Amino acid sequence: MPLSIIILAAGQGVRMKSSRPKVMHALAGKPMLQHVVDTCLALEPDQIIVVVGHQSERVRSMMHDQGLEFVEQSDQQGTGHAVAQCLPVLNKGNDVIVLYGDVPLISVDTIRALLDKSDGTSVNILSFLPQNSQGYGRIQRSADDNVEAIVEENDASAEQKKIRESNSGILFIVGEKIGDLIGKLENNNVQGEYLLTDVVKHAVQQGLKVAATICSENDDLYGVNNQAQLAEVEKIYRCRQVEKLMRGGVKLYDPARIDVRGTLQVGTDIEIDINCVFEGDVSLSDRVKIGANCVIRNSTIGSDSIIQPMSSIDGAVIGNRVSIGPFARIRPGTECADEVKIGNFVETKKSQIGAGSKVNHLSYIGDAEIGAAVNIGAGTITCNYDGVNKFKTIIEDGVFIGSNTQLVAPVRIARGATIGAGSTITSDTPADKLTLSRSKQVTIDAWKKPARKNRE
Ligand code: UD1
Ligand code: MG
Repeated sequence: MPLSIIILAAGQGVRMKSSRPKVMHALAGKPMLQHVVDTCLALEPDQIIVVVGHQSERVRSMMHDQGLEFVEQSDQQGTGHAVAQCLPVLNKGNDVIVLYGDVPLISVDTIRALLDKSDGTSVNILSFLPQNSQGYGRIQRSADDNVEAIVEENDASAEQKKIRESNSGILFIVGEKIGDLIGKLENNNVQGEYLLTDVVKHAVQQGLKVAATICSENDDLYGVNNQAQLAEVEKIYRCRQVEKLMRGGVKLYDPARIDVRGTLQVGTDIEIDINCVFEGDVSLSDRVKIGANCVIRNSTIGSDSIIQPMSSIDGAVIGNRVSIGPFARIRPGTECADEVKIGNFVETKKSQIGAGSKVNHLSYIGDAEIGAAVNIGAGTITCNYDGVNKFKTIIEDGVFIGSNTQLVAPVRIARGATIGAGSTITSDTPADKLTLSRSKQVTIDAWKKPARKNRE
């Protein structure tokens, strides 16, 4: 049967003590709910329905354009009530998996395992064996191990509270029974809510097959209710990423000191020193070395390139055998061809830097097109902004720019030109010639060092 996945995300998350809806809190740089949605999308179900309630407009607008269907649950009368709201939009006959927006580490493998074990069942609960079952619904089994009911903590007797097998909340319900089972739910319990877990009781009463599949990946089921738990989940996420990187052959100087908040694609023989942060989509080719304390975001780095310590790279395409930093700031739109060198305290933005060119010290390169084999002297600045508009600086192949030069854009430095140190260049300069703009050096013979005045 085709599959519909329902994600419950209506709750406010009071214990987060935040004005932001709980499922919108970021884990590894993206909302918790987005993690769940990404996992769902990887499963390619027929339908993904998200139940929203608290600040639903905000949740919808942050999650738009992903083919999700939203169902409003304005008064939250329990998990069973939430699923009931989905029945009118549920594609007829589809089997259903229920997930939670605040259980963000759920994996494709765990959901597939639940689905594999759901064949022939009407309801299949994803259960687990936590260290401490307190707060969870307990799975009550008969003497011959059949699932009889889920007993919520509040409704459980002292004996039932001793049961270790607990309900993760995640479950499978077969398509042909969901309408009937959800329709039977009532709210005459301690909570006064429609409990989704009661579908087990009704299914058992009807003689339907109910199973509970024990999940051994407890981390997959970690639910977030407060900031401490969010930090814990962040740590688990980080450990998983680090595991994957090291298994893929990456050398991490200290696996406890790296953060991957997105996807990091790696080639072979990569080395990453401590305290580096990778955000968004980053790709590192073979033999790239990253020094300590670098932050790299949405960028590609070519093979044999070295990023020296304390560098920030954002939205850049870096070629092969490039050296960057230490203390470089590479901003969006920077493209470095092969064998480029960007040194310390250099900022680049929206600029192409041609093969073998060097910007080694203390420079700002913005909105520039720099050719191959160019040498930009220390302290060079492209003056790209007149306070209102941005303009381009073009520096052709083989140019040498002397130190402390300002290039006032729009301006073109033609091929092979040399610009004398300390120049302010405001118009185009010819090829293969020395151009400079500074007043002639003079020595004042009559000058005398000022004498110290007698203090009163
Ligand atoms: C639920 C399960 C319990 C399980 C536990 C695992 C039920 C009745 N109980 O209990 O067996 O051990 O999860 O963590 O299902 N939500 C809505 N609309 C509502 C109510 C809840 O969208 O009307 C959402 C919440 O935002 C939350 C999720 O459903 O993300 C679970 O609700 P919660 O109240 O936390 O259920 P628990 O009491 O934890
Ligand atoms: Mg809960």
